[in-house]
Amino acid sequence: MAILPILQYPDERLHKVAKKVDKIDDAIRKLVRDMAETMYSAPGVGLAATQVDKHIRLVVLDVSDMHDDLKVFINPELVSSQGEKVNEEGCLSVPGIYENVSRAERVSVRALDEHGKPFTVEAEGLLAVCIQHEIDHLNGRVFVEHLSHLKQTRIRAKLKKHKREIL
Ligand code: NI
Repeated sequence: MAILPILQYPDERLHKVAKKVDKIDDAIRKLVRDMAETMYSAPGVGLAATQVDKHIRLVVLDVSDMHDDLKVFINPELVSSQGEKVNEEGCLSVPGIYENVSRAERVSVRALDEHGKPFTVEAEGLLAVCIQHEIDHLNGRVFVEHLSHLKQTRIRAKLKKHKREIL
């Protein structure tokens, strides 16, 4: 297994739209394991392939308290969504930034697992937030892009300053 470098906002590659996975093979399963290791070591609760510069529709998630419930979503599709809720979100690609984002409260998502088996999940709470956040990544959208332009400008300035300080 390997820990993969995570692209940092505002890297342009975070705006690429990921392609569907055609064939779920050992190379995909290796990427799943590497992404899981990268997510757990960060630590984070979700990671999209886009964030590790692999532009395919693959997401790993684990919102459990014990970090022992890895969920793999390949070619995830939002089947339905209900309600609306504001939650504070963060992202491994936007370190140190936490902002309120409004999303659907409950979603139904269809996807394939790492063996190519289709499944559907009805999600609410953190899992629902996380799935929508990660599907956004696959579509080239970072969570801060749900915020006002003014806020986005402030966040970019803050990240730039932080980068200067650690260099
Ligand atoms: Ni993210």
